[in-house]
This record gives sequence, C-alpha cells and structure tokens, in this order.
Amino acid sequence: MIFFAPCPRGLEVALADELRAIGATVLATPPGGVRFEGDESIGLLANLHSRIASRVLQQVASGPCRGEDDLYRLAHDTEWERWHDPLLSLRVDTTATGAQLPNVPFANLRVKDGIVDRLRERFGERPSIDRQRPARRVFAFADADACTLYLDWSGEALFKRGWRREGADAPLKENLAAGLLALSGWTPEQPLLDPFCGSGTLVVEAAMIAAGVAPGARRRFGFERMRGFDRAAWDRLRRPHAAPAPAAPRLFGSDVSEAAVAAARANLARSGVADGWVRWRQVDVLHLAEAPATAGLLLANPPYGERLAVKGREALARPEQFWPAFASLLKQRFAGWSAALFTSDTDLPKHLRLKPARRTPLFNGALECRLFRFEMVAGSARRSPAAGSDAG
Ligand SMILES: C[S@@+](CC[C@H](N)C(=O)[O-])C[C@H]1O[C@@H](n2cnc3c(N)ncnc32)[C@H](O)[C@@H]1O
Repeated sequence: MIFFAPCPRGLEVALADELRAIGATVLATPPGGVRFEGDESIGLLANLHSRIASRVLQQVASGPCRGEDDLYRLAHDTEWERWHDPLLSLRVDTTATGAQLPNVPFANLRVKDGIVDRLRERFGERPSIDRQRPARRVFAFADADACTLYLDWSGEALFKRGWRREGADAPLKENLAAGLLALSGWTPEQPLLDPFCGSGTLVVEAAMIAAGVAPGARRRFGFERMRGFDRAAWDRLRRPHAAPAPAAPRLFGSDVSEAAVAAARANLARSGVADGWVRWRQVDVLHLAEAPATAGLLLANPPYGERLAVKGREALARPEQFWPAFASLLKQRFAGWSAALFTSDTDLPKHLRLKPARRTPLFNGALECRLFRFEMVAGSARRSPAAGSDAG
C-alpha cells in the first residue's frame, strides 16, 4: 500500500525518520509530507505512533488529468465500496495546481459526484455530504497532468491527541511541538525546560515521549469505521503503556501566567503521563534564579512584542530591554545548555545579541518561522544587572 502523510513544512525529514522507525519504506519527502509504503499494519502504526504527521492518507487511485471529466472518471472507477459504508457521511477536498482545473470548487464537485455515483450504483444508496463532521474524508490532488485520490485513515487531524482542553495564549499544534523536539535533537535522558510554556505543549509532548505513551493511545481514528476493520488486531497493536515517573523529574515547564501553568498541569493530567514526570512553576523567566540542571535543552516559543509580561520589573517589559536581559540570563545561569527558540521574528538573534549556531526554517501554518539554536558555552558568562539575582 502507498500512503502519504502530510506534516508542517520543514518537518519532512524528521517525519521520514519516525516512519522508518515503525517499519515503513520511505519513497519521497516532497514539501509538506512524506510518501511511504507498507502493509495495512504500517498504516495503523503510523496513525498510532507518528507524533509529527498531520494525517495518514492511503493512495487509492492515480491517473492522467486533463480536465474535470478525467477527475470524475478516476473517482468513479475507484472501488470505494471496499472501504466505505454508504450510510456514513463523506467530505471531499480537492487541491489543484495545474491550469487544466481553473475552477477548483467545480473540480471538487466532480470528484464527489464520481464517488457518490459509484456507491449508489453498488449499494442503491448514496452517502450524505458533511463538511463539518464527516465520517470519512477523501483528498484529491491534481497537478499539471495527473490526479491522485487519497482515502483518509485518521479522521480528526493527528495533532489532536485528546489531551488538550485548556487553551492558553497562541498554543503550538502538538505535531509541530513534537517536530521541534525532534529537530532540536532532544533525547529523554536530557533535562528540558520551557520557561514560556503556555499550555505546556512542548513539555507535555516531551513527557509523552519520555514515558513511552503513543500520541494516538487515547483517541479514535477514521479507519475504525472502515469496512473490514479488524478491531482485535488493532487492540493488540495499541496496548497502552506508560513508564512510571523517575525519582527526580528532568522536564520543567514555567510561565509568568498562573492560568497558563494551571492549563499545562491539567493538559498533562489528560495525556496519560504520570504527574511526577514534570515540575511546573509559575515564574517570570527573568526571575529564574538558576537552571534546573547543570546542562540540558531550553526549548520554547517565546512571546512576541506586546505579549511580553514582566512582573515587578516593568522597565524590562519592552522588547528592546527584555531580550538583552533574557540573553544575560542565558549566559549567566544556563552555561553548558543549548537554547532552541522557535519564532516568526527573524530578528530575534539581533534582539538577543547572540549568534545562533543553527537556524532552521519551518512553517507554523502559513507563517514562516525559524528554530534558532544557541550554544551557551560555559565560561562565557558576564555579569549584567539586567538579569538580576532575585530568587524565584
Ligand atoms: C507563544 S506563548 C507559548 C505557547 C506555548 N508554547 C503553548 O503551546 O501553549 C508565550 C508564553 O509566554 C508567556 N510569557 C510572557 N512573558 C513572560 C515572562 N516574562 N516570563 C515567562 N513567561 C512569559 C505567556 O504567558 C505565554 O504563555
């Protein structure tokens, strides 16, 4: 079987590594996803274990496309009855880049007509169309001369693990957070701190990795309503597992906002990971008196401009003052650590007056971002009054 797993742009190679680890054969890594091959169990495992994929789609047809009639024929000639029960609702999404299909809504209609006509001929009934909460999704991708049809196995997008209920300010998507952990080279033995943790996405994802909890362990999938779905085999694959918490946590999340820390705590509780994996704190980052370990990774997506909140040091609340103060803190208290900061502000190194060892381009939805990595070399500390020394 051939599958395509879309993912946030910039994470294709990390996703390919993840898919190889579950036994998939990677065929290609075009921008925005990975094409791979494997049997049915690989499709199930990719849904269950991929932390970076947005969905897992099975390629069900591919053919030349010179116009809407070709699309209709391709959809009509595909054996949808193998997978789809006509009583279940359907949604079709078409992406067309070639000049052959200038009217994309019409092209989408023709794919939908092809599927619906086929199912009506086979079963005497036609599925209803539901754009809000469809039981099954089909994706059509057409370029200059070919069209490919995909059957979605995931249902709800895979970044919805089921643990997030408490929102906070601008939360990261769970699969983007997992991708940032992969790109930053973090391993579970390494201490990790997010001092701008918000709803805790980076820390909760790290905790799930460290505790060995599969991202899909607590949710349902579209394939569970596919014809011929083998529930017993699926139950065997997804046997729940969570390692007990270590004696001393290596994962740390903090935020200036009390509400954000409460949300992060509640999110962790729903993730299937024991409480003892993470130490949470409500603290202004500039009040951090010391790093939580001698070396580790500080990973965060820091706030932008007016989102900065500084307690008791209003003089530092403006970005021009905040970032140099944060850089001094890194140099003084985080010597030996790596700091990986994910931001859409391409000038962040300039504000920090630090030279990044690496800058990785990435997309957060349509927003172009960077993951900047700074090595806080031991011995580079200089005293700066801005970082302060109050205990926190
Ligand atoms: C972009 S959000 C982080 C979102 C987070 N990654 C998530 O997925 O939910 C930035 C966070 O920085 C926090 N923040 C702003 N100023 C801060 C400060 N001085 N110290 C610590 N946290 C601060 C905000 O409360 C906000 O939760």
